[in-house]
Amino acid sequence: MDAERLAARWRERLESWAIPEAIMAKAPVDPWGHSPERFATRTDRALAEPDDGPTVTRLAEALSGKGSDKGPGKGTLLDVGAGSGAASLPLREHIGHLYAVDTSAPMLEDLTARADKLGVPVTTVAGRWPDVADDVPVADVAIAAHVVYNVPDLAAFLRALDRRTQGRVVLELPHRHPMSWLTPLWQHFHGVDRPVRPVAEDCVALAAALGYPVRVEEREAPLERFTSLEELAASACRRICLDPSMADEVAATVLELGMWPMPRDRWTTVWWE
Ligand SMILES: C[S@@+](CC[C@H](N)C(=O)[O-])C[C@H]1O[C@@H](n2cnc3c(N)ncnc32)[C@H](O)[C@@H]1O
Repeated sequence: MDAERLAARWRERLESWAIPEAIMAKAPVDPWGHSPERFATRTDRALAEPDDGPTVTRLAEALSGKGSDKGPGKGTLLDVGAGSGAASLPLREHIGHLYAVDTSAPMLEDLTARADKLGVPVTTVAGRWPDVADDVPVADVAIAAHVVYNVPDLAAFLRALDRRTQGRVVLELPHRHPMSWLTPLWQHFHGVDRPVRPVAEDCVALAAALGYPVRVEEREAPLERFTSLEELAASACRRICLDPSMADEVAATVLELGMWPMPRDRWTTVWWE
């Protein structure tokens, strides 16, 4: 299938995740919102517990092969959808300069504070990729981790990433849509079925159809999604548009449905030069 059709499919499949209007209208908070606290925790863990998974490995080898005037074995890294830097800051020893792009200014503030503490030179750009692609210089290496399921126009996103990178582009994404774990709860509380696609293979197929020589590795996520049932129940209330006062009932349902403890996600790393 050609890139145009695969891109259209990606968009349609993402759109099929839209929350039914009647439920959305009653949502107490934005069910799609990213919590800066959750990402701060993810970044803390990523910095404290060194990871030797495929994403870090492929980034480190590409950055350290890039000797530059920024120091021996260091390269410039572009992190798109950077959040608070969980995918880039752990590579601090290999980064000559970090360019971090995100639509969320608070996430970028958090990232800057961390980068300063770690001694990583950083430039942030607040805005939507690819709209702001021309605001960053061409980097040696790029990473976009846990972003593509937010991106309806994935072809434009990937093309801009490739255009602004002279060496390796790396993507990390969960194998399934990040809201997939909620499917039994949607059915239980709202009687609503949720989609299955898109999955990581759909992103890989599109990148390949765009002409990139993609390589793929998959592994178990290094982190559990929730560290307690209470944390899971609070997140589920938000994601499936329930009042936070229903958290105990959600927790009981999660146990009844055999959803706890949760199996780890599978994460896919995709890269090309
Ligand atoms: C799930 S978080 C992942 C953050 C970080 N990469 C990580 O691995 O922890 C996704 C981030 O991408 C940002 N984002 C989503 N779509 C974006 C786009 N088109 N351009 C820039 N940032 C985007 C969100 O604001 C959010 O901070």
